[in-house]
Amino acid sequence: MERRKTRGKFIALEGPDGTGKSTQALLLASFLKGMGIEAKVTREPYDPGILKALAKSESKEASCLLFAADRAIHSQKIERLLEEGFWVISDRFIDSSLAYQAGGWGMDLEKVEEINAFATSLRPDLTLIFSCPPAVCARRMQRRGKESGFDSDFLLQKKVGCLYGVLTRRGGERKIVDASQDPLKVEARVRREVKRKWRLKKR
Ligand code: TYD
Repeated sequence: MERRKTRGKFIALEGPDGTGKSTQALLLASFLKGMGIEAKVTREPYDPGILKALAKSESKEASCLLFAADRAIHSQKIERLLEEGFWVISDRFIDSSLAYQAGGWGMDLEKVEEINAFATSLRPDLTLIFSCPPAVCARRMQRRGKESGFDSDFLLQKKVGCLYGVLTRRGGERKIVDASQDPLKVEARVRREVKRKWRLKKR
């Protein structure tokens, strides 16, 4: 008889642009592998076709729906991996739409939540929200050669950060990570949160 694997865990990393989530996602995956846990890293926006449509979109409403459609497709992939027993680390998930579309663009928070609830019922077991002052993020992105530092972008990231703050205060499975510290400290904090939540010991 085939042995059924235990379902994996789903961890989402969230935060404004330039908070270092992508690097920490890879570091967390290798930490988990070291603990004997098979982990997969994924990211949103996910689907290449939707990414193209997003690049062409000139309407905030269309973009909001495209992010949600992307998430619907992405969730199916994540579900399959979780069923196979993998732990999944996603660089962005629903909270990104709440922070950017509602917080950043000023769309109605409840509506954005509704659209996303229609797109997927999947929710992370743990969300780590990377928090960092916008000026620090802007400097990091400039160093990486990414456009930032313009007033509008700076303001947008500020609003995004504020909405992430609101989400953090809602609590639940969300934890805040101070991403302004040096990467080693951030890595240690991420590990601590994950170890604490699942009482991880080396397998
Ligand atoms: P991301 O790929 O994380 O940025 P980068 O190209 O710097 O690695 O995300 C692309 C942008 O899309 C980012 O500014 C956040 C935004 N975004 C939303 O506005 N809503 C969403 O639901 C998602 C997933 C991303």
